[in-house]
Amino acid sequence: MTPSPNLTILSDNYAFAPGLTSVWGFAARLRAGGHTLLFDTGSNGRVLVRNAEALGVDLGAAELVIFSHIHWDHIGGMDSVIELNPHATVVVHEGFSKHLVADLRTMCDRVIVVGEEPVELFPGILSTGMLAAEPPEQSLVLDVDGVTAVISGCAHPGIERIVARGEEIIGKPVDWAIGGFHLMYSEMEEIERTIRALQDLGVSRVVPTHCTGNLARAAFQRLYGPGYVEGGVGREITLT
Ligand SMILES: [Fe+2]
Repeated sequence: MTPSPNLTILSDNYAFAPGLTSVWGFAARLRAGGHTLLFDTGSNGRVLVRNAEALGVDLGAAELVIFSHIHWDHIGGMDSVIELNPHATVVVHEGFSKHLVADLRTMCDRVIVVGEEPVELFPGILSTGMLAAEPPEQSLVLDVDGVTAVISGCAHPGIERIVARGEEIIGKPVDWAIGGFHLMYSEMEEIERTIRALQDLGVSRVVPTHCTGNLARAAFQRLYGPGYVEGGVGREITLT
């Protein structure tokens, strides 16, 4: 039996476990359905490698590395990861520079460039497809072993839109919303509207971190109660 899907946050501007380095950005290792993936790489490869080592996470074991969007705080560790793991499949989308994609093709065994349609990467593990925003972004949607989840890098398209897209793709409610929710510049009214929208979509557990912002994190904690799970670098979450 494969273990329950689980996620380890390797890079995050919020701290969680002691002894790790916290810098702006987001990266997480996901294990689900017998597969190992890396979702984004944070802003700094050295920090990512150091944190992964401290957490006992082998970056070389990831079969696939998916990038949510082009911003520096998500692709900054790209070189370090490829150096350690040239055989991983790299997944970007059509919003990435064609020059970068061409270079990636010379450095990696396989590069997948996702368009607007969802793409199944492994059974029950999908890219939402590129959602239009500034910049465009893809997220992961999971429907594995009875667990449904969305993992977001920065949620530039809006976290409720990403969750709604995920639900449309898997045809059922998404339990978990995890990652950057991009509410750091939002007023409380918009934050609360977003939280209610997620609750209406059936999201029962949230891990709002990275660019979610302190005000929104506190609001999620208040409105989700026990369904709020603190993020931050070093956080390991078993998805049930
Ligand atoms: Fe970000």
